[in-house]
Amino acid sequence: MKRDGSEKLYNRACRVMVGGVNSPVRSFIYVGGKPIFIRGGNGCFIEDVDGNKYIDYVLSYGALIHGHANRKILTRVREAMEKGTTFGAPTEDELLLAEEICRAFPSIEKVRLVNSGTEATMSVIRLAKAYTKKKFIVKFDGCYHGHVDQLLVKAGSGVATLGIPSSEGVDLEIASRTISARYNDINQIYTIFSSHPDDIAAVIIEPVAGNMGVVPAEKEFLKTIRELCDKHNSLLIFDEVITGFRVSRGGAQELYKIKPDMTCLGKVIGGGFPVGAFGGRDDVMNMVAPEGPVYQAGTLSGNPVACAAGLETLSLLKEEQYRLMETISSELVRGVIKEAEYSRLPLTVNRVGSMFSFFFTSQPVKNFEDLQMSDKDKFVQFHRLMLERGVYLPPSPYESYFLSTAHTKDSVRKTLTAVSDAFRLISK
Ligand SMILES: Cc1ncc(COP(=O)(O)O)c(C=O)c1O
Repeated sequence: MKRDGSEKLYNRACRVMVGGVNSPVRSFIYVGGKPIFIRGGNGCFIEDVDGNKYIDYVLSYGALIHGHANRKILTRVREAMEKGTTFGAPTEDELLLAEEICRAFPSIEKVRLVNSGTEATMSVIRLAKAYTKKKFIVKFDGCYHGHVDQLLVKAGSGVATLGIPSSEGVDLEIASRTISARYNDINQIYTIFSSHPDDIAAVIIEPVAGNMGVVPAEKEFLKTIRELCDKHNSLLIFDEVITGFRVSRGGAQELYKIKPDMTCLGKVIGGGFPVGAFGGRDDVMNMVAPEGPVYQAGTLSGNPVACAAGLETLSLLKEEQYRLMETISSELVRGVIKEAEYSRLPLTVNRVGSMFSFFFTSQPVKNFEDLQMSDKDKFVQFHRLMLERGVYLPPSPYESYFLSTAHTKDSVRKTLTAVSDAFRLISK
């Protein structure tokens, strides 16, 4: 597969962009080689600048639930752009998007639209500390909540990929007020609350983790956290930046039937544009400016073009689309498991709806430590072999694979042919 064009652009990019990329997760440091420069996408396909076509399971890290260049979304976006791209004043579309979010998430009584998932989590942490007047935040190893100082402690995603346990530059005093616990470990969360009974402002969690591969929380674990937060007057924050509108319309909280106090959203609600949101209980949200004393603002927040893309994305997401993604994802995963058995390759697959990941280990993966037991070399080989066969996967085992409504049975069949080849070569 010829990749001269990508290579040239990458070499140029390295001169003016750190590591040649604008987000570390796009680099190929973990898997070796150089990132591919994309010239366009359509449906479940992307094409690189050398004309190579790939079936895409990255989908801008889960943002594109309808695949690339969806015609209806593009039309709605064009219509919005014709009217002007930003006003610094309220528009009807941002109200419609806020109403749609509140309808889908009964726990969200009020919402604030922002520009990214990071902004959402950063603001919600500030709000939780102000509301509770407490100083500690509890998070979980391997969960990633954006590059917020307080949350860059034992984080997943790019931080784990690059082996940076906690980012330099984060004030140690700030980091020391964040406690990171083992995911799915009920005993540890009890211990933490008994050591700090009156000091925990909030527990923030990805209810289905998607930044250490896909690791679903056990229901009992989430129920325990909910009970402990209630008992100790701490807020429970679900970071549903990935899972919101993806694992079901009402996110993971709808699947688990657990009501958080606050929720963070992003990715899908922006339809491919920069959007995030945080929201939740009315009494907590009313502390945000201009109603209350917690300051939070943004020049482009609730941007009309992004809101139009988000609205069209959500209006195209009906029960039927979730059923379709469920059917196609389960078909793909069943096929992958069969191929692994055939090649006698140890493989664990975790999946919740249209997000899934493959771990090269025979052990169950229930937390960040379990993931460390999977075989790095096999992952690296798998990534390279799939890329050569026209399947674009995230270049790190710490990321989730995503499926969209644009993936078809035919694209799954082609993916499985590549998987079959790759597994046979890896197991040799
Ligand atoms: C669960 C979760 N929270 C927050 C974020 C941060 O979102 P953004 O990259 O839009 O700042 C991410 C990004 O991948 C995420 O996966």
